[in-house]
Amino acid sequence: MLTVGLIGAGRIGRVHASTISMHANSQLVAVADIIEDNAQKLARDYGGQACTVDAIYKDKSIDAVLVASSTDTHSEIIEKATLAGKAVLCEKPVDISLFRAKQCLENTKPNGQPIMLGFNRRFDPNFVALKSELDAGGIGKAELLAITSFDPAPPPIDILKVSGGLFKDMMIHDFDMVNFLFEGLPKSIMVSASSVIDKKISELGDYDTAVATLKYADGRLVVIKNSRRAAYGYDQRIEILGSKGLLQVQNVVEDGIIKSTEMGVQSSKPEYFFLERYKAAYQKEWAAFVSAVQLKTPVPVTLADGISALAMAEAAAVSAKDGSEVELANFL
Ligand SMILES: NC(=O)c1ccc[n+]([C@@H]2O[C@H](COP(=O)([O-])OP(=O)(O)OC[C@H]3O[C@@H](n4cnc5c(N)ncnc54)[C@H](O)[C@@H]3O)[C@@H](O)[C@H]2O)c1
Repeated sequence: MLTVGLIGAGRIGRVHASTISMHANSQLVAVADIIEDNAQKLARDYGGQACTVDAIYKDKSIDAVLVASSTDTHSEIIEKATLAGKAVLCEKPVDISLFRAKQCLENTKPNGQPIMLGFNRRFDPNFVALKSELDAGGIGKAELLAITSFDPAPPPIDILKVSGGLFKDMMIHDFDMVNFLFEGLPKSIMVSASSVIDKKISELGDYDTAVATLKYADGRLVVIKNSRRAAYGYDQRIEILGSKGLLQVQNVVEDGIIKSTEMGVQSSKPEYFFLERYKAAYQKEWAAFVSAVQLKTPVPVTLADGISALAMAEAAAVSAKDGSEVELANFL
């Protein structure tokens, strides 16, 4: 049984608490949050004791730490938890600062503990099948990858303030998906971004709408479209054009009913947001972590993967600001 301390009892912390408590080989034994009430509520709902973050580090009976606190706290918690001998699953991104994330990688190497990054989309059954189809070669050589990733609505402004901005908070999932699907990293990134949804987002110096174009040395292209608002729900589609055909993952909808009348053809909306759309992915991600820690095998998504995606996000932010095509090598 893997005993787990959860740090951060907010939106995603609740998802993880539920997942940990449902897994046959893991047990939630402690929950910490700077807002004590948040920790107490989660502990009451999913088990374990509400306690301080330091108490989790000190408790020798805790095997693993799940980091679901705000992004600006991740590197320090990863360092302290691994120093205390815990395996870590940390939510994306590694940090707000690429420099600090690279320090975290260096600082944690001597601790020798497994550290997995929470890029949950790699575990979504649709995207796993897409990757298998791509690798099987049925569409020949991949030439163009297009990712559509629209949230139903922006998160609260207080969350946006500590999120690191659109590229590090949201598009980072798509950067990681690109790295998961395609071998190697792209050569350059060019971004056009604006804020058209909420004035408060542009007042933070952030964007809510963006298009990124990524180029590989061998000529492959990637287009990523992001928006913080889609009136019809969470829009998560991927398309890969290859020399011999096309692969597509469509949205997962609320139910399978399609109503056809003289007025037209109507299907259900996409599932509302990440809690619904990626429920299975969070469970498979956690199962992969538990299995890697217990069997002492490598974790499937590493801190280095997190740093690659963060480097792409930082390059994207530079391109969005000055309109240039940015070489990724300058950020690695
Ligand atoms: N993989 C995904 O699908 C996904 C989805 C949402 C959020 N996230 C990531 O998860 C993290 C949390 O996001 P959220 O939406 O749950 O935010 P949230 O604001 O709902 O929750 C964060 C919680 O962390 C607590 N906290 C802040 N600093 C802390 C500290 N030093 N020690 C302990 N607790 C602390 C806050 O009080 C809050 O309860 C972010 O890094 C975000 O990028 C990932």
